[in-house]
Amino acid sequence: MSLKVLQGFIGLILVLISLIAVGRAAEPEPFSMNKGVPARLAADYVHAVIEAGRTAYSHYIVDRLDRDRSLKATENWQEENTLLLPAQFLKLSSSVTNSKGIGMRYRLGSVWPLNPDNLPKSETEKSGLLEVIRNPQKPFTWIVQREGMWYYQAIYPDKAVSQTCVECHNHHPDSPKTDFKLGDVMGGIVIDMPLGSRFQKKPDESILIPPEVVSDYVHAVLESDRTVYSRFVVQHLENGAVLTSRSDWQAARTLMLPAQFLLKVLEITTRQNLGLDFSLISLWPINPRNGPTSEFERKALEWVGIHPIRPYISWTQVGKNFYFRSVYPDHAISSACVECHNQHPDSPRRDFKLNDVMGAVVVTFPLH
Ligand code: HEC
Ligand code: HEC
Repeated sequence: MSLKVLQGFIGLILVLISLIAVGRAAEPEPFSMNKGVPARLAADYVHAVIEAGRTAYSHYIVDRLDRDRSLKATENWQEENTLLLPAQFLKLSSSVTNSKGIGMRYRLGSVWPLNPDNLPKSETEKSGLLEVIRNPQKPFTWIVQREGMWYYQAIYPDKAVSQTCVECHNHHPDSPKTDFKLGDVMGGIVIDMPLGSRFQKKPDESILIPPEVVSDYVHAVLESDRTVYSRFVVQHLENGAVLTSRSDWQAARTLMLPAQFLLKVLEITTRQNLGLDFSLISLWPINPRNGPTSEFERKALEWVGIHPIRPYISWTQVGKNFYFRSVYPDHAISSACVECHNQHPDSPRRDFKLNDVMGAVVVTFPLH
């Protein structure tokens, strides 16, 4: 073979390889298999999203509607056509996440619970809940073996941030403790993540968790919060003819739309400066701010439109730092999504059908 032919042949192979690479990911990115997120930071990410969901719910729904509409959050929200309590919001959201079977689980726990379901599940969990009361600056973490696997567990303190927490718990007939004060640690958010098989040596908390797994965890919490908000807040109050959801919720003194709730959770999480960043995007946005902001996002939206189950993932390098991005398809899960978007005066698309991919949630974080 002459040199020219050989060069041509190699060139052709390179072109073919790059075509295959383009099929897998939109941009030529450095592929780095040995990077990930340390377990402790992964738990911090998950905790940040859980906290943001509860803050968004307490602040923008419960406190505001109490002020604007005298609509209360009550324990028997179903019969009373009211708002569910923040603890119930977290509990429902965690049961949605836990039922997805992705490995990571979370819940609220306390050594003085109103509901005995929330008692510690092990001796270590009990010591952890007591330790965050003594030392609330940092989470209590440990690694356990269970059913043939190593698990990482982290307990983050849950504080009485307002007088309403204290009053309701102190006066509740089922409360084993009646002297909570403002600022006290009342319990903890317990996060549980699988780390590896027991046949591997015991890992420590610097072990790296693969980025696609971490982003699935974070995305699952977001999805669950939106599901609980749509189903148990919006649908519940709309069916009971108590309140409706509208995009001009502030002026109308009513409920915000599910997309706006999701955007609030994203905004609050991003403010915590952990490096986690999100956005909600679409090729046909009602709000032009939600259009794709880069060629990468445009390609990702096209990709999830064609492959509606899996997220579109990619690695990028900025200077010396590596980042992981995943773009999750956002489906029209109910006819409300379809009807509202098809009829909205600012919507550039009017033929959405049930289960269509309407847009995507982008999750970005640095790799270590
Ligand atoms: C109007 C009453 C009420 C208010 C206000 C309230 N809670 Fe609760 N809380 C409950 C109830 C009821 C449960 C039990 C929910 C369940 O698991 O069924 C609960 C559960 C909890 C738990 C889990 C352990 C347990 O007691 O079962 C923690 C921790 C907690 N709340 C903390 C808080 C904090 C912090 C605040 C304020 C930000 C707050 N609560 C505000 C009623 C309230
Ligand atoms: C009652 C009307 C309404 C309903 C119901 C609704 N949306 Fe939206 N959606 C909106 C509005 C308005 C925006 C723009 C919010 C903003 O200002 O950023 C939006 C934004 C979005 C976006 C970001 C792109 C854009 O259009 O700006 C996505 C993706 C989205 N919605 C998906 C959904 C899905 C999925 C559902 C059902 C689970 C749903 N929406 C339910 C009105 C609605």
